[in-house]
Amino acid sequence: MAAPTDRSISQSSKHSFEITGEGVIIDIGTGDGRFVYQSARRTPNKFYIGIDPNVRPLAKISEKIYRKPAKGGASNVLFIQAAVEDLPAELNGVADEVHIHFPWGSLLRTVAAGEVNVLGNLRRICSSGALLEVVIGLDPRRDRAEFERLEIRELSLQQIDEVLAPKYAEAGFEINERGILPASEWPEFNTSWARRLQQNENRPITYFIARAI
Ligand SMILES: C[S@@+](CC[C@H](N)C(=O)[O-])C[C@H]1O[C@@H](n2cnc3c(N)ncnc32)[C@H](O)[C@@H]1O
Repeated sequence: MAAPTDRSISQSSKHSFEITGEGVIIDIGTGDGRFVYQSARRTPNKFYIGIDPNVRPLAKISEKIYRKPAKGGASNVLFIQAAVEDLPAELNGVADEVHIHFPWGSLLRTVAAGEVNVLGNLRRICSSGALLEVVIGLDPRRDRAEFERLEIRELSLQQIDEVLAPKYAEAGFEINERGILPASEWPEFNTSWARRLQQNENRPITYFIARAI
């Protein structure tokens, strides 16, 4: 298996999509911050902001970024404690890319059920033309209880096109690309949850990429 990289679906050659050059990349539900940290180390001309209401898993990496670059430091990283429902106004219009990888809880409900008011928060932090990438790794069988608890429908392409796309449009996003990949075709992700979930052979990945309009 190839070594993981910081590439995301919007940056992979297989699912190519125009990407922003330099700019500000925001990762919502950043978890332990791995994607942000590794990406920032590899791409020093971009500025990365990781956001999560639960900061405990970020403790180690938050210290590491202040080291000298040769010792693992990264001055182009910022971590913020916040939920998607309550993003700071200082982020308004700042993002050139927003990533949401393997969300759970209310973040999952926001993106998978298309909660227009909270999607509006995501739009608020985007610059015009910014990209929003959502990657979901739900297993329809194993995660049935989670689907029911969060009152989300199974994520078929039809559901994305007919139900989610209009809700995203209402919030100011145009879904330009979407897909469902079998476990065998997962692209390389550099997030901790990608590593965990990838071990389940039956877990497909559902993704969509939207542009802020
Ligand atoms: C399964 S983890 C994924 C972490 C990371 N993106 C990864 O791929 O390794 C889901 C993350 O979503 C965060 N989360 C849940 N609800 C959220 C919300 N309302 N706003 C922002 N983040 C949220 C959780 O705290 C958790 O860190």
